[in-house]
Amino acid sequence: MKKDTIGEPLSKVGDSLSRVDGRLKVTGGAKYSGEYKVPGLTYGVLVPATITNGTVTAMDTKAAERAPGVLAVITPFNAPKVPGYQPGAAKPVRGLKLFNDNQVHFNGHPIALVVAETFERATYAATLIKTTYQAQPFETDFHKNFDKGVVPNEGKYKDYVRGEADAYKNAPFVVEQDYMLPSEMHNPMELHVTTAFWDGEDKVTLYTKSQGVIGSQRAIANAFGLDPANVQINSRFVGGAFGSSLRTWPHEVAAVQAAKLVKRPVKLTLTREQMFTLVGYRPLTIQKIGLGAAADGKLVGITHESHSQTAVYEEFTENAVNVSRFLYASPNANTRYKVVPLNVGVPAPMRGPGEATGSFALESALDELSYKLNIDPIELRLRNYTYTDPERNLPWSSKFLKECYQQGADRIGWDKRAATPGQQRDGEWMVGYGIGCGAFGAYRSKSQAKIKLLPDGTINIQSATSDIGPGTGTSMVLIAADTLGIPADKITFELGNSSFPVAPTQGGSQTVSSVGSAVHDGCVAFKQKLNTLAGLPADSTAPIDYAGILKQHNLPSLELTQESQGGEEAKKYSMYSFSAHFAQVYVHPLTGQVKVKKLVAVVDAGKIVNHKTASSQMIGGAVGGIGMVLTEEALMDDRYGRYVNGNFADYHVPVNADIPDVEAIFIDKPDPIINPLGTKGIGEISLIGVAAAVANAIYNATGKRVRELPITPDKLV
Ligand code: MOS
Repeated sequence: MKKDTIGEPLSKVGDSLSRVDGRLKVTGGAKYSGEYKVPGLTYGVLVPATITNGTVTAMDTKAAERAPGVLAVITPFNAPKVPGYQPGAAKPVRGLKLFNDNQVHFNGHPIALVVAETFERATYAATLIKTTYQAQPFETDFHKNFDKGVVPNEGKYKDYVRGEADAYKNAPFVVEQDYMLPSEMHNPMELHVTTAFWDGEDKVTLYTKSQGVIGSQRAIANAFGLDPANVQINSRFVGGAFGSSLRTWPHEVAAVQAAKLVKRPVKLTLTREQMFTLVGYRPLTIQKIGLGAAADGKLVGITHESHSQTAVYEEFTENAVNVSRFLYASPNANTRYKVVPLNVGVPAPMRGPGEATGSFALESALDELSYKLNIDPIELRLRNYTYTDPERNLPWSSKFLKECYQQGADRIGWDKRAATPGQQRDGEWMVGYGIGCGAFGAYRSKSQAKIKLLPDGTINIQSATSDIGPGTGTSMVLIAADTLGIPADKITFELGNSSFPVAPTQGGSQTVSSVGSAVHDGCVAFKQKLNTLAGLPADSTAPIDYAGILKQHNLPSLELTQESQGGEEAKKYSMYSFSAHFAQVYVHPLTGQVKVKKLVAVVDAGKIVNHKTASSQMIGGAVGGIGMVLTEEALMDDRYGRYVNGNFADYHVPVNADIPDVEAIFIDKPDPIINPLGTKGIGEISLIGVAAAVANAIYNATGKRVRELPITPDKLV
């Protein structure tokens, strides 16, 4: 890996380039969506319902309306109609339709929006509203309602069966266990915020926290019956999202609705508590895994069932069980999936959506099986290694998971692991080692990028992609520099603007594969164009004077917009990124305190474009995984249907003291199929497998198998 060097700009794919926007971020120069001081700005504050199911029968808003600085109080009784919310709308808005009716589906369901000259005045006025409800019985208790699980999508979700269902039951060695994950909130540092302002009746601009400005543009256009070209979305910097900004939420529509009503810009910021109910979360899930194996460790059957919670007003599904269909060779495999509708906010994809949940269960069960068989957990995985995708019966486009096992085992010191649990000590502390693996689909979507040569010889590239943290601009600059053959510091990359050429939402670990391919292909085409203008053969690699070409041809600038997408060939392969996470943990026998001492994350994600930002992303995913396994849990008080820990004091995200030395290792072999760069994506697999690695290490250290996350000290003493 090449190091960052001073004075010599890096310019090759595979280098370690510092973030091109790093300086802006650390100096406060980076502006987030809540920081735009639009002239005439007003402030919106949502009023949450205090019942958990029922209807709002009356609201007395007089005092609020008369309070100083108040411009409007929007309620179900006076809200201007949102066209996309109405029956028969051309493109109906999915999900919650705020203020469109007087229903309350969950505690915290917004029932009013107060707009005032200042945030404080809006907040105060919101307290003056008197609401009368007709409360109905509600259900928030997942466990109590477990049996009310339904097959999602009105039965369109089919059970998966390969070979014989539940074949594990007849195998000589059997593991059959339930694994539970609590609801886990995305909790990005930056609160969700939207600033909206109209220009006349049919044009609107938003500064909003978004993982996809094109998606946001379409959603707002649909909601208000506008031409998407008249909806401008800006989301240049995003302070973390993890999936919570993949979609446009009802409060964003409400901000636009309010701005139209008061004819002034409105900024609506969610409170941290509202972040627990209004922008999704990883749903509470109970999974049953059945594994059956022969004495040699070969799997006979895998059964994976999952029940997860969803909302009564909108169904959310995820791929929790899918990993069990393809990660290991087993002649028999079957999965079942149900959702349990409750009076809660709707869940959303959260980093490693589905797979992170599923791999915790599968990889824990496999660990349990390894002890029953007395076979080393890595050896057990090797005996069930599969060189083709057993679910789809296709070859992998590339798979180097074996190499991940090997390198991870070396780096964590697997040879020091005791085969019998509870045997190893370092002073007072019990010591253990664990492995957890995962996979996530390697996707590539159609994407565009515009390459522009400016008179000073520098290149500007624009694409309507996002950067929720991974350093997208930095990777794109490196791809362009390498392809054009010029230093990275001669290139700028702009994103987060819906007027730029179309790009997919930043989700599903697909950005480098999708947008990177457009940048790559665009720069190849651009170089050919320049070569031709310079009188060279189109494919010449000779250096060219960029600024000189413009002068010579008397051009102010030169630009090209490139669209790029995967080919038919890709359909003949199964494409995944793979991960193997290794943990070394210390557990204190008296206090139950768990210290993750070391975490090694080894991934096969194809070619790595920028080692520095990729490593940072892997560390971030590991932090998320440690939160999942040790600290994070949104606790519902089922008497009231309300979370009791909706804040950062009581909902524990890991802090620096919880995070060990995390080492990220990349196999770094290009995938020959997926795209011209050979990249597969790391955003999700950085987390998928971490929870199982730590839980398995805790078992190895203590002999205690904890199947309910988070593994808090009380579960270990
Ligand atoms: Mo990610 S859950 O695809 O934002």
